[in-house]
Amino acid sequence: MFGVPLPRRPLWLCLHLLLPLLLLPGAPGHRGAEGPWDRADEPGPPWSWPGIQRLKEQLRAAGALSRRYWTVFSCQVWPDHCEDNDDEATLHPPGWNLPQWGQWSLDTLTAWFCSFQDCCEGQRDCRISNNFSGLESDLTVRLHGQHLARELVLRAVRSYLEMPQPDKALVLSFHGWSGTGKNFMARMLAENLYRDGLRSDCVKMFIATFHFPHSKYVDLYKEQLQNQIQGMQRSCYQSLFIFDEAEKLHPGLLEVLEPHLKRRVTEDPRAEPPKAIFLFLSNLGGNNINEAVLNLLLAGWSREEITMEHLKPNLQAEITESPDSGFGHSCLVKENLVDFFVPFLPLEYRHVRLCVRDAFVSQGLPYTEEALDEIAKMMIYVPKEVQLFSSQGCKLISQRINYVLP
Ligand SMILES: *[C@@H]1O[C@H](CO)[C@@H](O)[C@H](O)[C@H]1NC(C)=O
Repeated sequence: MFGVPLPRRPLWLCLHLLLPLLLLPGAPGHRGAEGPWDRADEPGPPWSWPGIQRLKEQLRAAGALSRRYWTVFSCQVWPDHCEDNDDEATLHPPGWNLPQWGQWSLDTLTAWFCSFQDCCEGQRDCRISNNFSGLESDLTVRLHGQHLARELVLRAVRSYLEMPQPDKALVLSFHGWSGTGKNFMARMLAENLYRDGLRSDCVKMFIATFHFPHSKYVDLYKEQLQNQIQGMQRSCYQSLFIFDEAEKLHPGLLEVLEPHLKRRVTEDPRAEPPKAIFLFLSNLGGNNINEAVLNLLLAGWSREEITMEHLKPNLQAEITESPDSGFGHSCLVKENLVDFFVPFLPLEYRHVRLCVRDAFVSQGLPYTEEALDEIAKMMIYVPKEVQLFSSQGCKLISQRINYVLP
C-alpha cells in the first residue's frame, strides 16, 4: 500500500474527522433539519456534496467553535503548550462542554494525528524507538546466514546510538550479492529504531536508479539531496539515510554527502549534535566475498568460523579498485569516512530453505518439508561444479511460493 516515497494520510480523512466537529447541533450556522447535510437520501460520499459555497459559509460561521475545538485538541496533543493558560474562562465559557460526538471526534482526530506526530510524554521524541532487543531478535531469527553482518551491525549501531555526544555520523557500507539480505537488514534497522519504520519522518531511503535516474539532472538532485538531509537533521535528533544501489550513485551526489559524514567541530560543547546513520548498499565486493567464502568452505572451514579478518583485506581492495563505480573512488572510501564495511555472505541451500519457510509463515500458509525443498530447488546454485551458493540469494522467494500452491 505504501510505496517508496513517504505518502501522507490523505487530506479527506482529516476533513472527514473535522466536519462533524463543525457541523454539530448548536454550532453557529447550523441550520437544523432543513440543511442539506441532514437529508438521509443524500447520495454519495462527502466530496460529492453540492454547494461548496454553503460549506464555506458553514466553515466561516463555525470558526468560533472550531477555534475552541482546536485549542482543546492542541492541549490534548501538546500539553506543555497550555499549562499556564489563564484564559480558561474564554476557552470554556460557563455551560460549554464538548458534546459526546465532539469528544469522540476529538479523540479520533488526536489518535490519527499522534499516529504520525510526536505527542507522547516522557521521551524526547516518540518517533524514535531504538528497540535494541527487538533488533537483536530480528537479526537472529529473520536474517539467515549472516553471522558477521549481524554481530558487526548490532554492535556498531548500538554503541553509536548509546554514545552521549558522537561527533560524527555512523557510516556503514553493506556489500554482497543481491538477495543476501542487505535491504532486509536496512529495513529491520528502520523498523526497530523508528516507530514508523521506513515511513518515519526521520528515515529516508534513496534508490540510485529510482531517485536519481538521469545524470543530466545531477545538479537538481544535488540540491534536493542537500535540502532533504539538512531538513531531516533539523527536525530529527536521530536520522537514518539509506542509499540503495550505492555503486550507481553519481560522483556529484557523493560529494554532497561528504560534509555530512565528516567529523564535526562543534562550537558549543553543550549543543547536542544530531545523530545520523548512513547506510550504503551495493553489490561491490560481492564476487570477492563469494570467492573467499568458497575457498574457506572447500578447505573445510565451517561457515560460522569465518571472521572479518578473512574477508576484510580483499573486500576493501575490490571496492577501491572497481573501475566502473564512483563509490569506490569517492572521498567516502578514500578518506576513511566509512566506519565499517559489512560483508554479506552468499547464501546456501539451507538458508534459502529457511527463507522459504519464513515466507510461508508470513503469508499465513501451511507448508510441508517437501514444499520447502521444491521451492529452494528452483533457485540456481553456483559455481557449476559444486552448486553451493544461491545466485539470487533469497530474492523473490514469496513470489515463487505461488507456483507450488495447489
Ligand atoms: C521491541 O521489539 C520486540 C520484538 O519485536 C517487542 O516484543 C517489544 O515489545 C519491543 N519493545 C518496545 C519497547 O517497543
